[in-house]
Amino acid sequence: MRRDRAFLEDVPFAQEDYGSIVQTDYPGAHDEAYRKRVQSLIDHSEEAWPEIPEYEYTDEEHGVWSFVSEVLTPLQDRYSCEAFLEGRDALDLPDDHVPQLDKVSAKMEDETGFMLAPVGGLLDQSEFLPRLSQRVMRCTPYVRHSENPFFTPEPDIVHELRGHAPMFMHEPFAELSVQIGESAKKAVEAGDEDLLELIGLFYWYTVEYGLIREDGNIKIFGAGNNGGIQDLLRSVDPTIEKKPFDMEKIKELTIDYDAPQQVFYVAESYEQITEIASELGKMA
Ligand SMILES: [Fe+2]
Repeated sequence: MRRDRAFLEDVPFAQEDYGSIVQTDYPGAHDEAYRKRVQSLIDHSEEAWPEIPEYEYTDEEHGVWSFVSEVLTPLQDRYSCEAFLEGRDALDLPDDHVPQLDKVSAKMEDETGFMLAPVGGLLDQSEFLPRLSQRVMRCTPYVRHSENPFFTPEPDIVHELRGHAPMFMHEPFAELSVQIGESAKKAVEAGDEDLLELIGLFYWYTVEYGLIREDGNIKIFGAGNNGGIQDLLRSVDPTIEKKPFDMEKIKELTIDYDAPQQVFYVAESYEQITEIASELGKMA
């Protein structure tokens, strides 16, 4: 069943500026025509807010989507965690064209009540994370630059739909997201920036880039590595460092949004992730 989106009417499309891309070698950061195209999809989204508009994608954009989809699917079959694969198969996204956000949102809403809501770029954690408590996932509508379909330092629709959306078909993950969202909301309301940062780090090293042990094997849990060719390959490359997930170590880290992950953290189990999320909730 579709959810009513009216409760988002009072929420600004974006309160703060989006994170900027500073990585110098990403072609999408410097191609003016590309930046204009990205901006036009953002403007289109903002005009329709909080509804999801129909987007018209170019052949080039469909081509990037198809290329990434074809390369990713067999890699995911081999390396992704069970919850992701179940969600991916249930979501059943097309390989040959960029799907409409609204259609994907409809399937998620049916399954767990999570809805997609367009956004223009990387949001500040204080805006992005609390929204999860309302089962809302902000989601970019534009496609990465065609010169580098393997990696993008800014979130794009491939990352959102090939990486994040499948997990929202899985109720325990939806509940985990709500829990993270509620803790973040309390941290924002209390003005507790340290706690918000801690929740953001936890989110980054689990939901975005986490690995998880499943039946003795290390599988991919995070949307960044499930939904990106370079990140997926890096996260299963034995020459790239993997460490056991440890909140004491994670809290010392920072997030570099522009560069590929240099180290990956492996959660022992789904329970370990939910337990830490619940501990963070108690701190809020
Ligand atoms: Fe993400």
